[in-house]
Amino acid sequence: MKKKPNKKKLPKPKQETKADAGTNDIIRLNKYIASAGVCSRREADKLIEDGKVQVNGNIVTSLGIKVKESDNVVVDGKQINPEKHIYVLLNKPKNTISTTSDEKDRQTVIDLIEDATGRRVYPVGRLDRNTTGLILLTNDGELAHRLMHPSYKVRKVYQVETPHILTDEQLTALRQGVELEDGPARAYKVDRHPVLANAIRMSIIEGRNHQVKRMIEAIGSEVINLKRIIYAGLTIDGLRTGRWRYLNRKEVLEMRQLVKLLDKKTLKL
Ligand code: URA
Repeated sequence: MKKKPNKKKLPKPKQETKADAGTNDIIRLNKYIASAGVCSRREADKLIEDGKVQVNGNIVTSLGIKVKESDNVVVDGKQINPEKHIYVLLNKPKNTISTTSDEKDRQTVIDLIEDATGRRVYPVGRLDRNTTGLILLTNDGELAHRLMHPSYKVRKVYQVETPHILTDEQLTALRQGVELEDGPARAYKVDRHPVLANAIRMSIIEGRNHQVKRMIEAIGSEVINLKRIIYAGLTIDGLRTGRWRYLNRKEVLEMRQLVKLLDKKTLKL
């Protein structure tokens, strides 16, 4: 009979620091090793079974073991570091491109944050050059992919200013759906702005190109100012235009839960 491997008890994980915020998810050891670029997950399983992996100083041979980013993992005598994920929320100003580079050398969202973060991050989705407001940037490709995928139905809320006050009929048309050249589109929710008479708050699920502008044009008006105020449950409140901040741990966990990268039971706050 095959001898059962010794399950060694792992020491208590280190206390989280502020810099760890949002990055301390528990992941399987093979995934941790693979994300450090050492080898594939399958090859990592082999290294674990062969007793070549240590976690916090203990050899582990059990394939089911889970670790935290803050744990010390040594493979074949070398300490490894998986890519640390960072999550940045930027209040994008006007006249800024939301791609990573621009052939005309115009200011990009990356220019606004990169020197400060010191890491390569990518915008999750796009905002038009003159749209202001919330844009998320991260190096967490799996999360970004899910946030942008229509099947996860991530909600985006825009504050839309028009030259004239929209009529009740126009708002109803947005709720019921308008015809765009690439198919029908409808707002998930539309409310009048509590203060600005010529503005509405419109919530959409899809993220088609220039979708808000095209929907407003389809009801016979136009957008004079567009600002994204909510994305995937995150709000732009308290962040001045052009400024950015890191997401906190609670925000990252909630977002991961939203796109089913974390189940409800795992959400310990
Ligand atoms: N819809 C638009 O029309 N523009 C944006 O920037 C975002 C959504």
